[in-house]
Amino acid sequence: MDTGVLIERLPKVELHVHIEGTLEPEQLFAFARRNGVSVRYPDVEALRAAYRFHDLQSFLDLYYEGCAVLLTEQDFYELTLAYLRRVAAQGVVHTEIFFDPQSHTHRGVAFATVFDGISRALAEGERSLGITSRLILCFLRHLDEADAFDTLRQAEPYLDRIVAVGLDSSEVGHPPSKFERVFAAAREHGLLTVAHAGEEGPPEYIREALDLLKVSRIDHGVRCLEDDALVERLVAERMPLTVCPLSNVRLGGFAEMRDHPLKRLLDRGLCATVNSDDPAYFGGYMTENFTATQAALGLTADDILTLGRNAIEAAFLDADARERLL
Ligand code: HPA
Ligand code: ZN
Repeated sequence: MDTGVLIERLPKVELHVHIEGTLEPEQLFAFARRNGVSVRYPDVEALRAAYRFHDLQSFLDLYYEGCAVLLTEQDFYELTLAYLRRVAAQGVVHTEIFFDPQSHTHRGVAFATVFDGISRALAEGERSLGITSRLILCFLRHLDEADAFDTLRQAEPYLDRIVAVGLDSSEVGHPPSKFERVFAAAREHGLLTVAHAGEEGPPEYIREALDLLKVSRIDHGVRCLEDDALVERLVAERMPLTVCPLSNVRLGGFAEMRDHPLKRLLDRGLCATVNSDDPAYFGGYMTENFTATQAALGLTADDILTLGRNAIEAAFLDADARERLL
């Protein structure tokens, strides 16, 4: 089968998407107008033109600024449902979504407002689009441990609907070790753990995520290739990497898609998966990530099928649900 057709038809599983990163400029302006929030760009075109990033922090600054328009339960509902509709049209059948409660609670938006809006949309998405989903609560690593503990406490009434905790935001200077105790507390609540590691940070952060945070997946992880012993360990443990190719290129990790290591990760036998990260900011959702990597790296039909199977294997699903996707 032609790889383009295969990509289009592949039932896709997304494991790394920040719901706040699905806020398209048009929607950002609509929420701003509705909520009386001012935006420092005159229009959608000007805002989109500002999406030229040189590293993770230059992106995060705009991403957190964009969050300011999200105020009501209805905003979080519409944001999430719009994402689900877009990816349902791309053949996504299951998605595991990060949310950043601290980006909202620090602006005075209640945890319940965020959580209720997102989870109402997830229920609607399952009912009307047939997309299954899981929610992963991310701690912002540039904030301190006490703030993460406070966030975990606020999440307590909702833990039956949260599958895991994760770690995102500015990586360098905020190693996984900073959150060892809060991740231990989360595991005691029965939550799984994941962490962004080896996106901009060194391979050592990937080791810390494994050893100290006991993660079930590494988010990004592309810098593992700098450390052969680490690659061997990740292969031996069959540790999934949720790779986000358009994100890595847009944030300057690799100059061009031709330089992206996705194919090398697969060839080393790693359990790599393809994901969109912050699709409204990085130029594409799941299909665009598959299409761009296939074109630049010459992914074969086998590579694409392997990426699809890896994501099903790495998903936080029970055996029955997994079987249904295979
Ligand atoms: N990396 C770290 N933190 C993030 C990202 C990312 O790609 N997107 C949203 N928060
Ligand atoms: Zn991410």
